[in-house]
Parts: sequence; C-alpha cells; structure tokens
Amino acid sequence: MVSGEFWDGIPSVAEDEMFAMITTFKKDPFPKKVNLGAGVYRDEDGKSWVLPAVKKAHALLIDSPDLNHEYLPIAGLAEFTNSAAKLMFTEESDVIKRGQVVSTQTISGTGANHLGASFLSRFYLFNGERQVYISRPTWVNHHAIFANVDITPVEYPYYNAETRGIDFDEMLSTMNSAPDRSIFVLHACAHNPTGLDPSREQWTAIADIMLAKGHYAFFDAAYQGFATGDLDNDAWAVREFARRGIAMLVCQSFAKNAGLYGERVGALHVVCKDDQATKKLKNQLSLITRVEFSTPPAYGAKLVNFILNDAPLYEEWRRNIRTMAGRLIEVRKELYRLLTEELKTPGNWDHVINQIGMFSFTGISEAQSKRLREEFHIYLAKNGRISLAGLNTKNIKYFAESLDTVVRG
Ligand SMILES: Cc1ncc(COP(=O)(O)O)c(C=O)c1O
Repeated sequence: MVSGEFWDGIPSVAEDEMFAMITTFKKDPFPKKVNLGAGVYRDEDGKSWVLPAVKKAHALLIDSPDLNHEYLPIAGLAEFTNSAAKLMFTEESDVIKRGQVVSTQTISGTGANHLGASFLSRFYLFNGERQVYISRPTWVNHHAIFANVDITPVEYPYYNAETRGIDFDEMLSTMNSAPDRSIFVLHACAHNPTGLDPSREQWTAIADIMLAKGHYAFFDAAYQGFATGDLDNDAWAVREFARRGIAMLVCQSFAKNAGLYGERVGALHVVCKDDQATKKLKNQLSLITRVEFSTPPAYGAKLVNFILNDAPLYEEWRRNIRTMAGRLIEVRKELYRLLTEELKTPGNWDHVINQIGMFSFTGISEAQSKRLREEFHIYLAKNGRISLAGLNTKNIKYFAESLDTVVRG
C-alpha cells in the first residue's frame, strides 16, 4: 500500500458552513458585499472592535512585574475562574458562599460545552438512553459536541415558525414527558439562532418542571451582556435555577462579551452538593483536560482577570458591553423601519425588534437566503439567521432592499 492510499476509505464531509463562508466572503470582489454570517461583533465601520477595557487590561498586563509565560495549572488561573464564577452566580449567592461551585478554565465556550459533555458522558447516571435534549433549533455545534462523546442529541420544540415565537407549551410538554433526570441544554440568554429568550415567568415555569422531574440543566452562556446590555440581567435564569437548587452546570464564554474571540477564554462551572464533592469533581475535570490540551491558554484569562478585579476597569467593561448591545438594538430598529415604513416589505417584521441579542432569525426560506447570497453577495446562514453586527448605516439600506426584493420573489 502506498502511503497516499491509507486515507482512500475515509468519507467526505462538508466544510463547516460558517468558517467556509468567511473564506468565500473574503475572496468576493463585489464592493457592496455584506457579511451577516458568524456571530462576531462589528462596529459602525464594519471593523472588529477591541474593547477599550481590554486595551487597558492589555497595557496593565504588559507592564506587570509578574508577567511571565509559564504554564497555568490544569484547571486554569484560579483567580480568573473564581471571579468568573462570581460574575455568573454573584458573590452573595448561596452556591458560591457554600463552596458548591467547581470551576475550570476552558477553551472558550466551545471548550466548556465539550468538557461539560465529556464529564457527563463519563459520570452522568443516565436514566435509560444516553441522550441530551437540545432546542430545535440550536447552535449547530451542540449536535456534534454531544454526539462526539457518545451522547445522542434529541430535540425539544423551541421555535414556532408560524408565530415566530417560542413554542412554549410544546417545550414544557416535552420536558414533562421526558424521562426523569434528563439533561436539558438551555441557552442562558440571547438564544442562538432564534434571538428568543423565555420571559422570567416562563423561566420560572421551566424551573418548576426541572425540579419536579429531577432534570439536569446544562446552561450554555455564550452571550452574557448581549441580550439586555446588562451582565446581571442576562444571568437571571442561571442565578434563579441555582437559587432553587436545580442540578446544573454552566458553560461560560468571554468571546463575545469581551470581544476575545481568538484568545479562547471560558470556564465550566459545575454546581455540586457540597465542597467535598467539588474537590472530587475538580480532579476528574482536570483528568479530562490533561489528556486533551494539558493546560488552558493564559493570555486571555489574565486579561479578563484584570477586568473582573479592578473596579474602574470593570465599570468600563460594563459600559463597553452596553455600547455593543445598544448598537445592535439601533440596528434592529433601523432595519424594522426600513422594511415596514420605507419599503413596505410584505409580511410581518415585528420579530426583528422583538428578538434580542446578536442575531435575527429572519424567517426567510433556505432558497431566499441562497438568493441573497448568490445575487446580492449577502452572506448569511442557510436557516435565515443574520448576525446584526454585520449591519451598519452604510450597508443596512442595501441589505433591506435586497431582502425586500427576495421576499417579493
Ligand atoms: C450558543 C453558543 N454556545 C457556545 C458558543 C461558543 O463560542 P466560543 O467557543 O467562541 O466561546 C457559541 C458561539 O457562537 C454559541 O453561539
């Protein structure tokens, strides 16, 4: 066998939709092209934004007498993970005060999802099938992340295409009929891709069922701050579930809210019965990390640590988050105005302003989204999800007009 033939038998798979789109977009010479694909924040000039708070943290880090390039411990920078846990649960929460949270630094939110899934795959006492419930639809990677560790993803109803709202009754009914002690993946806020979050009343009803059925909450918190512009508001569901004693873990990412996409800063927080259990879990989690990437990257964690532990810097970061979230709200309003008042685009566009976060789930078909891409050079996910961050005063009209043309067929 010549060496090239070793791989003849491997099946072909498609390239990742979002990353392939970034490459094609870069190569596209069309002057009015618009990228509404990946969920990354862009400023009014369409440029990526280095948060002023992050710039200052960087300067502090570079000048710090303690700057070094040593390995972090396997579980990461303890100061960072402790502060990150407080940001999620609050310092005053019982779970933090009682030492019930075990926190491990991860390769951003994806790594937290993977580590959480791997941990459950090894130790969760599945009640029957090795399965996890994920929302229909959800972040595409959830499917693969669980399948990758031999847990079958099963969908629960979430989005109702007719009402363009949450299919709440169906969701609750699935939670009710699921076997006791099932695992449910819940988006802590700014649901990707729908931009629809349960209200506080709805979260309370979900919590009631989770408790009654002994379900496990797998919270994915990739957008804390992006839903309402406020870190505390956006952690409400997580904090409420913790307060009510629901068994849970939280996957936390600083990619979006600190604009640290490439630094891969994240944490996994598992809420345990007591501080004895956290010790046991910490070592098990470290065992998984050790074989996969040994220790997490230091730079981004050090930056976030500076921000979380310096009062003025922390306040500045909160303002930076409000700036990002505020711009996205303005984009929503302008898009809505263009579609409903200026262009009188057929259909109801209320969802554009009712949805929250970085995305708008436009409700257009796969064929329409293909047309936007092929004829108008507007790049978006096949399912009609657009990242609002890609819109600004210079390109929003072009986008609205193109959408209008496509909708009119
Ligand atoms: C719902 C959700 N979870 C997790 C992530 C992971 O992001 P990252 O690994 O960049 O932190 C994303 C990113 O798009 C997401 O949308």
